[in-house]
Amino acid sequence: MAKNNHSDPVRVAFIGSECYPFVKTGGLGDVMYALPRALLRQNCQVRVLMPCYACIPEKYKKQMVHRGSFMMDLTQDGREFFVGIMEAEMDGVIYDFIENREFYDWGNPYTGLWEDIPKYCFFSKAALAALNYLEWEPDVIHCHDWQAGLVPVYLRTLFAPTPVGRAKSILTIHNLRFQGMCSISHMKYWTGLPDYLFNYDVFLTGDNEANMFKAGLAYADRVTTVSATYAQEIQTDFYGERLNAHLWYHRAKLSGIVNGIDVDLWNSRTDKLLTADYSEKDVLEKKPVNKEALQERLGLKVDRSKYMLGLISRLTDQKGLDLINAIFTRMMDDDTQVVILGTGDPRYEAAFRHYESVYPGQVCAYIRYDESLAHQIYAGADALLVPSLFEPCGLTQLIAMRYGTVPVVRETGGLKDTVAKYDPDTGDGNGFTFDDYSADLLLDTVKLSRKVYLQDRDAWDRIVVRDMGKDVSWEHSAREYLDLYKALAE
Ligand code: ADP
Ligand code: GLC
Repeated sequence: MAKNNHSDPVRVAFIGSECYPFVKTGGLGDVMYALPRALLRQNCQVRVLMPCYACIPEKYKKQMVHRGSFMMDLTQDGREFFVGIMEAEMDGVIYDFIENREFYDWGNPYTGLWEDIPKYCFFSKAALAALNYLEWEPDVIHCHDWQAGLVPVYLRTLFAPTPVGRAKSILTIHNLRFQGMCSISHMKYWTGLPDYLFNYDVFLTGDNEANMFKAGLAYADRVTTVSATYAQEIQTDFYGERLNAHLWYHRAKLSGIVNGIDVDLWNSRTDKLLTADYSEKDVLEKKPVNKEALQERLGLKVDRSKYMLGLISRLTDQKGLDLINAIFTRMMDDDTQVVILGTGDPRYEAAFRHYESVYPGQVCAYIRYDESLAHQIYAGADALLVPSLFEPCGLTQLIAMRYGTVPVVRETGGLKDTVAKYDPDTGDGNGFTFDDYSADLLLDTVKLSRKVYLQDRDAWDRIVVRDMGKDVSWEHSAREYLDLYKALAE
């Protein structure tokens, strides 16, 4: 296929491990859905490559067509694996699903590193091989998180002499905590990559530890992360997850571009899952209607005057849940209700279930993954808690603001970049924030937010309306990515 000339749209291949609505476990799935659509509107051609997991709902599988298949060698001993390409188109974005029963016949995309390392070695290599097979030559390959971390490495080594080898690569860090590490021999075996890459500048992080993310960060042409603050934070000890020196070394190619959300998917004006849809104009009348419907659905006392705090989150240490646990009983009073939607660490699941039993009618711990309930909480709650230990960007605070729900957040990563602190003197700001990772500060901040809600409703309402008007769309950030792609493609 002919190479792009200047007037052609930039061609970008997204490679990542999850994408809404096919598979989503967190914000990565949202970004893989929303950013390609925003880029398409800016005249970019986008193809998304992801694994064809068995857990993709049947209704989407039915829409896929078989684009071809081939055998690909992978491991150090040259074992060959089947690669199938299933394709679907949705609103102009093309999705290619890499098929292989052996690797993707699991319920959940992530099972444990021992199996996940081979799974994503295979995926990274197969995605590049699929682009060659499809004769679709991207200008830029945009890789996401450690699961696609090997793509930049394969691109500059085994694939360098092939058509796809002309593409530039960007590796986006959505979450540095997860890196794809295993023993050197396991990594050598499954990647089939040459020995010279197994040094401390590329793969190695310990005596017997090889790291896929580290290698990808070394080989990518550009590295981005999902907020400007997180781009700085990960160069420090505290946030750097043992890769801070490596990231600092590569800082010239590292930058932050803040996430947005898909404002069509998250739109309180048209959201069919809500009891009452609303805009900035009638949020103050309609939000209480949604709150009462939510209280009824969840078995809470139906009373629109209660201050309702929501939490929608993976239940992991990252999300600052130990702070919430530490202040829970001190935070509760008769005016307060708390709704938790999340799954994860059994410790937190048990703690929240316990509080539900201690505060019947006031606390609901809904320990599930439930998209429709998430929409109803964003619409019905007054405030959303996000006191994260670290937060590369965070999407829940963006969705909350779009739904007129005031975020209560710790000033870290993307939370710091997207939620301006409420100033009681001027009334400015988008939410209630605190800096140090301290339970007492979180408690003070929750109390302040409740005080404004209960005692200064006009000031509260102004925040609600301001938040709904804030631009949390992808438009601006998609343009920043496009500029980056264009600069790389030249
Ligand atoms: P992370 O990617 O770290 O989990 P984000 O804030 O970027 O955090 O994205 C989380 C996404 O997952 C949001 O779209 C949020 O609404 C959604 N989400 C998290 N937990 C649940 C749940 N239990 N049910 C439904 N949606 C959830
Ligand atoms: C990660 C981060 C989250 C970010 C999301 C999408 O899962 O934890 O902060 O919003 O990726 O980039």
